Amino acid sequence: MSNKKVLVTGGSGFIGGNFVQYMVDKYPEYDIYNLDLLTYAGDLTKHSSIESKENYHFIKVDIVDREAVNSLFEKENFDFVVHFAAESHVDRSITDPEVFVRTNVLGTQVLLDASKQIDIDKFVHVSTDEVYGELDFDPTNFFTEDTPLQPNSPYSASKASSDLLVRSYHETYGLPVNITRCSNNYGPYHFPEKLIPLTISRVLNDEKVPVYGDGKNIRDWLHVLDHCAAIDLVMHEGGNGEVYNVGGHNERTNLEVVKTIISALGKSEDLIEFVKDRLGHDKRYAIDPTKLEQLGWKPTYTFETGIAQTIQWYLDNKEWWERIISGDYQNYFEKQYNV
Ligand code: NAD
Ligand code: DAU
Repeated sequence: MSNKKVLVTGGSGFIGGNFVQYMVDKYPEYDIYNLDLLTYAGDLTKHSSIESKENYHFIKVDIVDREAVNSLFEKENFDFVVHFAAESHVDRSITDPEVFVRTNVLGTQVLLDASKQIDIDKFVHVSTDEVYGELDFDPTNFFTEDTPLQPNSPYSASKASSDLLVRSYHETYGLPVNITRCSNNYGPYHFPEKLIPLTISRVLNDEKVPVYGDGKNIRDWLHVLDHCAAIDLVMHEGGNGEVYNVGGHNERTNLEVVKTIISALGKSEDLIEFVKDRLGHDKRYAIDPTKLEQLGWKPTYTFETGIAQTIQWYLDNKEWWERIISGDYQNYFEKQYNV
């Protein structure tokens, strides 16, 4: 296997962080560059086991900083760009949309411009099923790659905008690209503002778990390592210009997810607190992954095996999430829930 230079943006976040680790271990002959601004969601400590490895490199850069990004691309001549860096939390996009446009739209455009100046094998844009909007509760309806984009939140609108920019750089400049649109991820190092780690951490601390609305909204859950394997496959084997949906048919209502965690931890459902619904709350997401399966991908975790592994990870790594909850996140949480 030849030596390749892979730039991973957002490699200190949840999915990017798992992907960096996966790539450093799986491809010792590749050089993996993690470019991250280290916002509230970025955390370098998760890479302590690989930071001394020769094929891992960290660069602290803002993807919106055109000069810094361009000079890095000129210097390193990357073969692959795998673009995760983003503002990722829907609730934050409802209270403060501007930074979502800045990072997710402008940042993507800066990276696309830099990529077209060099001879890259592939620009992989990591997007989300939320760009398709919402589904009704008919279990036979799924998002396919042909579903029209109808984003409902400022977050998903910023991701859909970046998807369209990626598509346009392929059509206009011939940039080799893929777009992946994955369902909800969960697993180790998931930031405790998101439903699953929030529930685990609060239940472990005997704190109330806020469930939005009636808790009947449905999400389609995928273990983060299955997502990493999908991106690995798409970056190497994906058809030029193609979009791939990523999901493992693990639909659950939010209430089912919360009750599963409470029961696994042996706590009482009295911890559930129904709170005001999220504005514009999408009813249901569900992915049809046929196109990716035809490329050779299949998930290794069921929701049952994945959630058990994840709960165990949070039990074993209390120090990590306690440190995060005690920092800036706490201020956000207090503002969000008026607690
Ligand atoms: P995250 O919020 O955990 O991590 C985002 C990372 O990007 C952080 O390390 C942060 O420091 C970095 N970052 C933010 N702004 C930056 C900037 N201006 N310059 C450089 N780095 C910056 O996000 P995540 O949940 O790991 O999601 C990663 C990507 O995957 C996002 O693009 C998201 O839209 C997409 N996605 C997420 C999910 C999910 O369930 N979490 C599902 C599908 C797709
Ligand atoms: O579908 C992929 C998307 O999944 C990604 O693109 C996003 O980056 C990621 O954050 C995630 O978005 P969601 O909004 O679906 O995830 P979140 O964990 O915030 O919420 C999951 C569901 O749980 C959603 O219906 C809202 C609900 N919820 C969430 C929180 C934080 C609650 O009921 N209570 C809560 O406290």
